[in-house]
Amino acid sequence: MKIAIGNDHVAVDMKKHIVDYLEQKGYTLVNFGTDSTERADYPLYGKAVAEAVASGECDLGILICGTGIGISLAANKVKGIRAAVCSEAYSAALTRRHNNANIIAFGARVVGIATAETIVDAFLAAEFEGGRHAARVDMITAIEEGRL
Ligand code: RB5
Repeated sequence: MKIAIGNDHVAVDMKKHIVDYLEQKGYTLVNFGTDSTERADYPLYGKAVAEAVASGECDLGILICGTGIGISLAANKVKGIRAAVCSEAYSAALTRRHNNANIIAFGARVVGIATAETIVDAFLAAEFEGGRHAARVDMITAIEEGRL
C-alpha cells in the first residue's frame, strides 16, 4: 500500500518517526511534507497529500501539523478527500470503517509518538464497511458536488 504523508515545520520529527515506523511494516511512504523546521505553510502540504490521494497516485494519506486541524481543513478542500483529525485509535478506525476517510490527520503538539503509532495502525488496518454508511458518505459527496 502506498501512503502519502505531509507535515509542516512543527511536525518534522513526528513525520520522520511515522515514516520509519510504517516502512518497517512494509508500507511505501511518499513524502510531501517539509523536512525543515523553518516556518512553513501547512495548507501547501495538506493540498499536496490530498491531490496525491484524490488522483489515485497514493492509496491513503497521513497529515501532521501542530494540531492536525489546519492541514486537514486544507486537504478537505480537494474534491474527493475525506480527511479526519483523530487523537486516538478508536476514532481513527471508525472514520475509516464508517466515513471512508482517505486521510488521517493528527497533531504533533497533541499526541505523543506512541499514541500516533496506534492512530496510524488503527487507520490502516480498518476497512470501509459500506452498507448503510455508504449512503451517508455519498451524501457528503453530494454536498461537495452541489447536489444536496
Ligand atoms: C503552526 O504554528 C500551527 O499553526 C500549525 O502547525 C497547525 O497547528 C495549524 O492548524
